[in-house]
Amino acid sequence: MKFITLFFAIILLSCSNNNYKTEISSPDKKIKLKFELINGKPSYSIIKLNKSVISNSSLGLILKEDIDLSQKFYFLDSKKSNFNESWSPLMGEFKSIENNHNKLKVTLSQNKKILTIEFKVFNDGIGFRYLVPNQESIKNYDIINEITQFNISKNDSAWWVPAFSYRRYEFLYANTKIDEISKKKFSELVEDLSYDTLGINAAQTPLTIKKENGIYISIHEANLINFSSMTIAPKGEGVLEAELYPWSDGTKVKSEKNIKSPWRTIQIADNSSELLMSNLILNLNDDPQKNKDYSWVKPGKYMGIWWEMIGTNESTWWPSKHHGANTKKVIEYIDFASKHNFEGLLVEGWNEGWYPEWCCTGNGIPFSFTKSLDDFNFDRISKYSKDKEISIVGHHETGGQIENYENQLEEAFKLYQKMGVKYIKTGYVNDVSKNIKRSGENGGIIREWHHGQYMINHFHKVIEMAAKYKLSIIKHEPIKDTGLRRTYPNFISREGAKGQEFNGFSSNGVNHATDLPFTRLLSGPMDYTPGIFQLNNFRYTNPGSGKIDKNAIVPSTIAKELALYVVYYSPMQMAADLPSHYKKHLEAFEFIKNVPVNWENKIIINSKISEYLTIARKDIDSDNWYIGSITDEKSRSLKLRLDFLDDNSNYSAKIYKDSEKTHWKNNPMEYEIETVNLNNKSELEVYLAPGGGVAIELIKNN
Ligand code: NOJ
Ligand code: CA
Repeated sequence: MKFITLFFAIILLSCSNNNYKTEISSPDKKIKLKFELINGKPSYSIIKLNKSVISNSSLGLILKEDIDLSQKFYFLDSKKSNFNESWSPLMGEFKSIENNHNKLKVTLSQNKKILTIEFKVFNDGIGFRYLVPNQESIKNYDIINEITQFNISKNDSAWWVPAFSYRRYEFLYANTKIDEISKKKFSELVEDLSYDTLGINAAQTPLTIKKENGIYISIHEANLINFSSMTIAPKGEGVLEAELYPWSDGTKVKSEKNIKSPWRTIQIADNSSELLMSNLILNLNDDPQKNKDYSWVKPGKYMGIWWEMIGTNESTWWPSKHHGANTKKVIEYIDFASKHNFEGLLVEGWNEGWYPEWCCTGNGIPFSFTKSLDDFNFDRISKYSKDKEISIVGHHETGGQIENYENQLEEAFKLYQKMGVKYIKTGYVNDVSKNIKRSGENGGIIREWHHGQYMINHFHKVIEMAAKYKLSIIKHEPIKDTGLRRTYPNFISREGAKGQEFNGFSSNGVNHATDLPFTRLLSGPMDYTPGIFQLNNFRYTNPGSGKIDKNAIVPSTIAKELALYVVYYSPMQMAADLPSHYKKHLEAFEFIKNVPVNWENKIIINSKISEYLTIARKDIDSDNWYIGSITDEKSRSLKLRLDFLDDNSNYSAKIYKDSEKTHWKNNPMEYEIETVNLNNKSELEVYLAPGGGVAIELIKNN
């Protein structure tokens, strides 16, 4: 009797019209999410073991025609359920991934309008999304604002790159208090953006935050389809708010019918190593549709006619005496790549449309995606590459000219398929960010943001068309990864940060490489293009000048370049340097040849955010393990526990390491290779030079 009275009292308390609250926990009970409707306004908060992660924060959407779905609600219904299943990605960092979460679905009403908010709480964080079903009382589903907030604490600090900015995601990271996220602060600390006055102050996601209470979080989104990218804007006093990239007419998202937003995600970890183990983003995406076969998508390694344009500057993309993509050279590269068992060879600058000033203005670069330049004999190259079992990695630099590309898309993909191409690297260099040209509905030219819904939908078109022709896409200047590679495995890799290329024509500095794993790489694989061996005296002042630019250096060491193949996950990894540079260090090149690109498991052996990181990964096809360890500008001696190795087994470990004299700045190419026997009781001490690293191959003997 007592119990029943209490039960009704709780119900009355919690559902009195426009006030309601409920809670759910993660399966391990450590994370608690509270949903509250307070005087008609929906909000949420999160704690982990009594530590605040997000304090009370608003939720809601504003639609066109004065539909405010952020207040004046009544509670209608709430449902809880749980889910626990494992699934296996076609390729990835883990053979099997556990998807274990508790779910809460709250439905609210406002006059006759309905809004549902769905939450999933995992052991490694939470995701939530908005659902606005088709309904009589809403005629226009266009979104003009999302007011999701993340109420953190003004003392928490963030690692971030600016949104609404000139070079998409290609910036070094700033580390500031969260209220300081602004172009002004970025200009003071990292790079001058004072000229870049379009758009608001906001950060791109994933946005990594270290809370003053010791918790690490990453705010991002999952399953970004037919929507606009979310950025995170500071509102003062530790409050962050979702800001969507608008269309040129100001609308944030155009929706013809019901709304299903991407998941807003908060990965939560007790330390920086745990953050790197999260599979939350993939768990908030779906397996491929049952009738879709993606078994033809294969991970692999590739070389490229690339660094000689962007790095050594001895060749050109465009027709000239020094044109890189000529048949003779392509054949030489195919021979080298095939001899060393690579899957692919990227060839850039093969098609018509390149000219020296091609880059960046966003004004009508008439690339053809089917017509080859005169010195590129595609038929011959296609036949030769098939004989040598190398796939050409095709290249489509669009210059951000979307209509020009879409007009040729199917023909181009058909041609590539016929030529035996299995992968395409696509590119969208078009600076100033709000510079994507499209024809307006009433004629005239309109310019859209690189990360708005127009581009999200373009990328989707490309990925679906590519699947039709069994092509996998490596995207440069992409939209961030939100886990779509689970549903569309041919979305195989992407850039989406400052990659190695900048060390060719400018510099990333020595500390960027240890920022990436804790920021950009939290969203998914990156085509960083590691493996530069000639780290100084590599760049010519001009193609044909014969003069070396003494100031150009890649701020790394050879051992670190090897370690990056383990530390940075990508199912397509490039060996980015020239064959002639690899020929000088064939013993070190062995590591690149042997390192797998598809894994069964990963262990974070140690890490300190943006300072150092050691990852061990187990090969999916053998009993062998690989370890990569990298450091920032500081040298370190690290003791590595190897207790993840099999019991009672011996491993022979080949260690590629910096020497005591190696230094990223003035002695980057000195390394030592040592072979020792180890088992799971061993503790291995490794030395990493300033800006250096170590790479280890552990072959199981018995
Ligand atoms: C930028 C890409 O990131 C780079 O890899 C490519 O070579 C150039 N664009 C030219 O397409
Ligand atoms: Ca780029």
